[in-house]
Amino acid sequence: MTTALGVDIGGTGIKAAIVDIDTGELVSERVKLATPPGGEPDDIVATVVKLIEQLGGLDDDVPVGVCFPAIVKNGRTMSAANVSHSWIGLEAEALFEKAIGRDIHFVNDADAAGFAEVRYGAAKGVPGLVLLTTLGTGIGSALIYNGVLIPNSELGHLMIGGRDAEKRASNAARERGRLSWKSWAKRLQRYYSHLERLFSPDLFVVGGGVSKSYQEFLPLLKLSTPIVPAVQRNNAGILGAAALAVRPPENLAESSQSR
Ligand code: BGC
Repeated sequence: MTTALGVDIGGTGIKAAIVDIDTGELVSERVKLATPPGGEPDDIVATVVKLIEQLGGLDDDVPVGVCFPAIVKNGRTMSAANVSHSWIGLEAEALFEKAIGRDIHFVNDADAAGFAEVRYGAAKGVPGLVLLTTLGTGIGSALIYNGVLIPNSELGHLMIGGRDAEKRASNAARERGRLSWKSWAKRLQRYYSHLERLFSPDLFVVGGGVSKSYQEFLPLLKLSTPIVPAVQRNNAGILGAAALAVRPPENLAESSQSR
């Protein structure tokens, strides 16, 4: 069994678990702590260290993958929508590596979730263009073409009607506005119709914690593209980060082509 530790940093909570990357199953409990208010780098790093301690520390050579809600380029965080602006331009990967005492694989959270759905979930073996969106504190996106992940697509920040899409259509926007499922679905309709016009995808996969209630809103959407809930739901970030730590993306492309 090949295991890896995955950490999923979100705007609201930080989760971690050890994953059997051959099957995509969690082989430890899933530990979770709230994202520290303000989302400052030192506080988030300290929370990740705490979660790893809660999992019993790091075994000798277990690979570690960490995913984060920002553009990640060469180990640096290049944006910060739902965390402190001090992350912008920060050598974040190095910061985590120093605190944890080990090399990590560092990636955008929605890209990790997309990778997990391709390997273990709703997008497994699906040819063409899969567009995964995570509906959470923000909206994250992953574009996967024939099994190859195109990173940092950031489609949650499309401007629709002059407004940042995630401010209107994320799950946090639903909660803030105490929207009924029907009212929220109207906003989602506008968002997914826009994505459909731009990309003509073959499949939409909807992730994030709220995807467990998919029956309340997915049937209300009228799209030509099939739209399905993520199979891995709220564990997708952990699974994807862990899997990427063991197997870099180019290998995923090879494996999906040979399927
Ligand atoms: C961030 C993305 C992230 C998404 C989901 C957005 O606000 O810009 O990088 O993937 O939230 O967390």
